[in-house]
Amino acid sequence: MTRSILVTGATGYIGSHTCVCLLEAGWRVIGIDNLCNSSPRVLSHIARITDRELPFQVLDVRDHVNLCRLLQREEVSAVIHFAGLKAVGTSVSQPLNYFDNNIAGTLTLLRALHQHGVRKLVFSSSATVYGEPKHVPITEDAPLSATNPYGRTKLIIEQCLADLRQSDPEWRIATLRYFNPAGAHETGLLGEDPRDTPNNLMPYIAQVAVGRRKCLTIFGNDYPTPDGTGVRDYIHVMDLARGHLASLERLFNKPDSFTVNLGTGQGVSVLEAVAAFEAACEKKIPVRFSGRRPGDVASCYASPESARELLGWRAEKQLADMCADHWRWQRNHPNGY
Ligand code: NAD
Ligand code: UFG
Repeated sequence: MTRSILVTGATGYIGSHTCVCLLEAGWRVIGIDNLCNSSPRVLSHIARITDRELPFQVLDVRDHVNLCRLLQREEVSAVIHFAGLKAVGTSVSQPLNYFDNNIAGTLTLLRALHQHGVRKLVFSSSATVYGEPKHVPITEDAPLSATNPYGRTKLIIEQCLADLRQSDPEWRIATLRYFNPAGAHETGLLGEDPRDTPNNLMPYIAQVAVGRRKCLTIFGNDYPTPDGTGVRDYIHVMDLARGHLASLERLFNKPDSFTVNLGTGQGVSVLEAVAAFEAACEKKIPVRFSGRRPGDVASCYASPESARELLGWRAEKQLADMCADHWRWQRNHPNGY
């Protein structure tokens, strides 16, 4: 039987792009997703890009019985675990849903993997675990804290994974702390398709550009940053996808676990992001300023050095590529999939 990689959250934004990367690199991939925040139409788009089918099952990672059935049936040698809820604001009003989906979901998955002898895992963590960073660029040894229930789920899962590794050195776990994923597949066939009003900057700008929304509200212009707006580390989703491929390869080749930032190391302000998107779509993006969004930090960008040293990986695409690809996707799919 060929070795397979199980991808949870396979039809989501980052999961779908990573599936493309894995298939193109020759891995056999099995996808699962409960479709709570994605469309099954993603699958035909992945097939069009890669010319390969992605075996897929609608499955919730909290469903232990059916996870075990799948793991009995398939020879899974590693898992990339994207499945989870990610809206910071909703996590504040519905913490129990976030604890259940993200924490209980991950624990159910881990138990099933443990039972079936799968010991390699790539986990989607987030720069949110750095809370309010004291220094930028942020290195992996910076203090960790949670500023909202979503962040707490990532932090708790990271801690559970550390305990698991400690208990059984057979586990090889890659914890990847993503900064701000942006962009889309260069074909314009895959991209981010938020179900509700976008919380994140790039999808919001893209929906203004395509005429679905009138104006971007910029949350704060009085931060201690060069132009007063928030600074972030936007990373192209295909660079992020390649980071998963590199992590997986390392897990198969080296008997250790690791935690790395996946970012570019470049800080970009909201106004710079808007200007870059305007250049890509050749339209003016109307903006208005409002007060700061609660919980936002002034500046957050990665030191990508560990990822370069451990994985030989670095982000290759620029902000202009992210905007051009994001715009191509949005223009081709003004209302999503
Ligand atoms: P997404 O919502 O597009 O993808 C997540 C997928 O998981 C969705 O398809 C959803 O339907 C699925 N899912 C949710 N709960 C599930 C469950 N219980 N069982 C099975 N499937 C389930 O989000 P994304 O941007 O692709 O994020 C992927 C991962 O990366 C998440 O864990 C997220 O927290 C993390 N992350 C995302 C960002 C970001 O800004 N996009 C930043 C840092 C970390
Ligand atoms: N912003 C606006 N207007 C908007 C949306 C965002 O001005 O409509 C600003 C924010 O204030 C911030 C910047 O754009 O300065 C980026 O905001 P995002 O919401 O796109 O990203 P965040 O850095 O706030 O958070 C994202 C994810 C989190 C994750 C974090 C680090 O939403 O889940 O990146 O990975 F934890």
